[in-house]
Amino acid sequence: MSATTPDSPTLITGIPELDSLIGRSFTRGSMVVVAGHPGSGKTTLALTICRSNAVRQIPCLYITFQEDKDKLVRYAKFLGLNLDELEAMGLLDFVKLPVSASIGDLIEEIGNVVRRKNYGIIVIDSINAILAGLERSGVERLYLQNYFYTLPTLTNSILILISELPLESDILPIAGIEFVADIVVILKHKIRRGLIERYMEIRKARGNPLSIAELPFIIEEFKGLKLWPPIIVSEIMENREEIRIPCKSLADALGSPSIWKSEVIYITYPSNSRPIYAAMIPLALSLASNLKMLVVSYKYPKESIYYLISKALDMMGLTEDEVKRLISIIEITSLNPFSTSLSSIAHYEISLAEGKDIVVFHGVDIPMVTFKLRRYIPALYNQINYLKNMGVQIVRMSSYINRVMDRVNASLSDIVFRFKPVMTESGRLGYRIYTWRRGYHAYIMDLNIFELCMREAGSIIKSRCIHNG
Ligand SMILES: Nc1ncnc2c1ncn2[C@@H]1O[C@H](COP(=O)(O)OP(=O)(O)OP(=O)(O)O)[C@@H](O)[C@H]1O
Ligand SMILES: [Mg+2]
Repeated sequence: MSATTPDSPTLITGIPELDSLIGRSFTRGSMVVVAGHPGSGKTTLALTICRSNAVRQIPCLYITFQEDKDKLVRYAKFLGLNLDELEAMGLLDFVKLPVSASIGDLIEEIGNVVRRKNYGIIVIDSINAILAGLERSGVERLYLQNYFYTLPTLTNSILILISELPLESDILPIAGIEFVADIVVILKHKIRRGLIERYMEIRKARGNPLSIAELPFIIEEFKGLKLWPPIIVSEIMENREEIRIPCKSLADALGSPSIWKSEVIYITYPSNSRPIYAAMIPLALSLASNLKMLVVSYKYPKESIYYLISKALDMMGLTEDEVKRLISIIEITSLNPFSTSLSSIAHYEISLAEGKDIVVFHGVDIPMVTFKLRRYIPALYNQINYLKNMGVQIVRMSSYINRVMDRVNASLSDIVFRFKPVMTESGRLGYRIYTWRRGYHAYIMDLNIFELCMREAGSIIKSRCIHNG
């Protein structure tokens, strides 16, 4: 029955990462159990699946026992799921059934609604509501389980059964249901440092090789549920798109006139000196090539970052007007790494980076000293690889705090710029810039050369400004 005919197009979860993990078992005639703790995202996942198929003209039926349709539709809007239109087009039907006293009545009621249309997806939210109305007798539960087991085959659809789990538990309310289901997904909450981390456990997916059991996910305003399975190293893409280095001495230092987009840049400076020069590197690279840049700062509010950028651009020789125009195309976000969990922030940043060419993380020493390296490094490693696969260039800027962190950052990068303070002849503090690039010789540049170089980059940016009006 799970065979796909032209009349019954394939079904998807609508979350590509999930499709690639369980897609083979996500076929007509299958029973999917979505179990989870209160507020863990069961309804969000089911609505996402419903909508993703409905927009492909495959009708979805959503049966609830407690939740009002209006409330569901309103809530879905905040998740970026517009359901009204699909409902008006007859592609999404909400049905609220009363909790019947008898199992026979209930099955009849469900039978009546599922026959109305050729549904591709049928959701029952949730089976706990049904079970609460039943006697505790094993016979009735078994009968219900059998009914659910045959329903997807009879209707040539996927049946999604939502099941509520008490916190701290992952035992399903119908004991045998795990064995008859084709897919079992469990949504969990974990509290770390008082913050919520969400995980999806794929307990079972018939016919799919499963190596990853637990995946972090987030639920994001207007974007819905997003999932990030760890990237397999052999699948990391080296984006060979070239980014021109907009001045000669920097190109000499790095050994070629351009760098690749997949090269991760680490810029470090002493914690007490914070040279404005450090900010010029990503500015020069992105603005001279018209790249879309996002700055994520863990340290300063947006306004302060704007100020620093304008100051750097001013030193690169750009006029006030030009600075104003350039700044409007740079996106800046300030994030407090402690207000949300580690996996949430790492994933939130990935979603912010969508459509950007270059992302600058400013003040990475802050999250690095806070989280246990054992947990921080895997999150960072996965994030870097995700961004690489998205074709985003990564720049990480950090004060030098300690050797371990510095080495971790350097080892995860392809290009390192190290600003070292030196005393100049006039007695002022100057810098020497040490550069390392994987596969090239190391290089030491004096500040006056670097400054000239950045003015050269500035004039390229200027001409681009004039050119672009
Ligand atoms: N607009 C939103 N942006 C971000 N997160 C949201 C938004 N709306 C809801 N959430 C989060 O999504 C979580 C999951 O909600 P959902 O209703 O899908 O969970 P559930 O498992 O069905 O809960 P319940 O056990 O109450 O049925 C909520 O706890 C909330 O933290
Ligand atoms: Mg719910």
